[in-house]
This record gives sequence, C-alpha cells and structure tokens, in this order.
Amino acid sequence: MQPLRGRHVLLGISAGIAAYKAAELARLLVREGAEVQAVMTRSAAEFIAPMTLQALTGRPVRDSLFDPQHEAAMGHIELARWADVVVIAPATADVIAQLAAGSAPDLLSTLCLATEAPVLVAPAMNQAMWRHPATQANIGVLAGRGVDILGPGDGEQACGDTGPGRMLEPTVILAAIEQRFVQGRLIGKRVVVTAGPTREAIDPVRFVANRSSGKMGFALASVLAAEGAEVVLVAGPVALSTPRGVKRIDVENALQMHRAVFDALAGCDLFVACAAVADFRPVDVAERKIKKTDEVVTLQLKRNPDILADVAARPDRPFCVGFAAETHDLEDYAESKRRAKGLDMIAANLVGASQGFETDDNALLVIWEGGKVALPTQNKSQLAVELVKLIADRFDAQTATQDS
Ligand code: C5P
Repeated sequence: MQPLRGRHVLLGISAGIAAYKAAELARLLVREGAEVQAVMTRSAAEFIAPMTLQALTGRPVRDSLFDPQHEAAMGHIELARWADVVVIAPATADVIAQLAAGSAPDLLSTLCLATEAPVLVAPAMNQAMWRHPATQANIGVLAGRGVDILGPGDGEQACGDTGPGRMLEPTVILAAIEQRFVQGRLIGKRVVVTAGPTREAIDPVRFVANRSSGKMGFALASVLAAEGAEVVLVAGPVALSTPRGVKRIDVENALQMHRAVFDALAGCDLFVACAAVADFRPVDVAERKIKKTDEVVTLQLKRNPDILADVAARPDRPFCVGFAAETHDLEDYAESKRRAKGLDMIAANLVGASQGFETDDNALLVIWEGGKVALPTQNKSQLAVELVKLIADRFDAQTATQDS
C-alpha cells in the first residue's frame, strides 16, 4: 500500500522549534512516493535551512508571494491548485490565527485560502499559548471548517514547560496524511484484532505458552488497515514489527488480553480473534523462582476466559471472526466451534508439519452461515488479503440485511 504515490503534498512550515522535524516529515513523504513542495513562512528559516528541505524534496522552497522567478514558473494560485493536500507542520499559534481569520499576509496563508485541497494542521507551541482561549477559539473555527487538527502531543517542551503543545511525531503525521488517500472497503470501520500467543506465568522466570508466531494476525491487521479500517491490534509476546497505521497494544497473558480487548471494544464493528490464547493458566504464580528440589512437581491449571466467546455474547457485539486450529476432521470441528461460540465466521486450518504455527504459509477453510470457501496454501500475507476480502463481503452482506 502506497496511498501517497504520485500525490502532491504542499508542506507548510512555520516558525517554531519543531520545524526541524519537518525535514523528517519531508523525507518520509518522499519515501512514500509523494511529490513534496515545501512552503516556509519567512521566519521559519530561522529554525531550519531552506536548503535542507530543497535537498530532501528536490524542489526549491517557496517563501514569498512576490518572487518573480517562481511566480513565472508556478504562480501561487497554480501552487494552490497543484496541491492534493496541504499539511502545515509545525503550525504556530500565529499561523493558526491567520487561517482562522482568513487573512493572507504571506504565501502560506494565501495558499490556504486559495486551495480546495484538504488542509491538515499540526500545532506546535508553548503549552500556555496552546491553552490560551484565543488559540482554542481559532482551533475550534478551523475544526468547524473541516481542517484536520493533528495533536498536539503532551509532554516536555523545548522551552522547559510541560504540557500540551508538542508537535506530533513525523510518523504519526504521515499516517494521518496517508489516511486521507486510503481507498478501501473498510473506511470508517473500527476493528480489533488479537494475535500471537499468551504467556501464563508459573514463577518470575517461567511460563506456559505455545508456538504461535503472530504472523497471521499481524498480516490481517496490516491488510485491514490498508482497507481503511481503524485497527487496534492486541498482541501477545511476538517478534514482529507493528504494521503501518495500526494501533498496537502489547499484553502478556490471557487475562490482560481479555481486558485490553474489552477496553478497545467501544464502537467496534469487527472483531478478529487470531491469537492462540492459552486455555489454562497456573492457579498459583510463585512469587519466587521455584527450586528444583523435588523430583516431581505438580502444576495446577485453571481455565482462562474465552475472549472470543465473551465478545460474541455481548448484546452489542461486533461481527466476530474466529480461528480454529485442528489436527483432523477440520470442517466438523470448525463448524461446531463456530456455532458454540456464536461466530459470524470461522477460519480453520490444519496444524501439521508444514503449515499452521511458526510457518510463513498456511491454508484456510473459511466457514460462515450457509457458505464456505477453501483458500489454498499460500503466504500468510497473501492469505490475509483473501481472508479480508471474504470478511468484508460477509460483513457488507450482514449490514445490508440488517438495514433492509
Ligand atoms: O476453542 P479454541 O481455542 O479452539 O478457539 C479458537 C478461537 O477462539 C480463536 O479465534 C482464538 O483466538 C479464540 N480464543 C479466545 N480466547 C480463548 C481461547 C480461544 O479468544 N481463551
């Protein structure tokens, strides 16, 4: 997925200390295939050299309304039309005030008045300036006009204060820009995915776990996000990087996963339970490492809650997709599991030598009420694409039935 490939991004940079982060944002945008035109306010050059941005974007920085050389090539109105999106990062209190007032004292503010492209603003300022009623009123005006306000973040500030006003990190701003261009079947849908194993502690150094790598769940989260869904990925301990645009919550054991899923469930449209949750946990967790003095030790285990069944039992339940790993009689076991847990869909796979846990390939038998499809052995990323298609088909069909 490269939603920014070939897109024209007009990157506005105003005079704040966070301007140095605009260089990183420009680099990320170019890496994603965007064409980037930096436009700086005059005093932004006090914080970052225009040459840096020119080198990163391959285009001379624009900073003046009255530059005959540039106006001859692409005038400011052409530039406003050229932009597919305008992103101001950092946006100072002053720039925000200009946009809210509709004043146009320089090139950047003029472009914002002249463009019909969406405008995204990443505020960056001292916390008192951010909290000031004038700034808050201006932000309210901009938000009311459909301007996307990204952040600001909270924390330590360059001036020594602590509080709201930090510019969001370039990767977060990039994701918000990309979101504007994502075209997918699940735009506006909220999805919670579980992935990976859980670890159930025996003592401070030992645990009961399983062989799940988390690859299938991470691949699904990635494809769901690429289809435009807002994805929360609740992950057990795995060695995988977070897919682009996905919010990841790391947990260790089944009870934590249960809690994290239920915390993320508000407004959720789809729940995809891909985690290999441990069915049991030790009754007692030893506070200290158990010594190997005895020849035989007995570990007493108790059942963990079934996260998927609990979600599916809620009155306001999302569309629920479960997984079933079986060694034999795949279809019968999967279908009875689907019914027992009250699922809308189940994806079943045989676990054996060359597929299932810890492998890159898998095959799935996908079953829903009144239908089934066998997805042949393939890479888990490709399989995730096929499965998400089926999920979106069934989800749309169910929504259509409920609406009629
Ligand atoms: O019953 P079984 O463990 O085979 O069911 C597998 C499905 O149920 C998977 O989708 C898995 O993520 C989910 N599950 C769960 N919580 C558990 C056990 C399984 O969400 N405690």
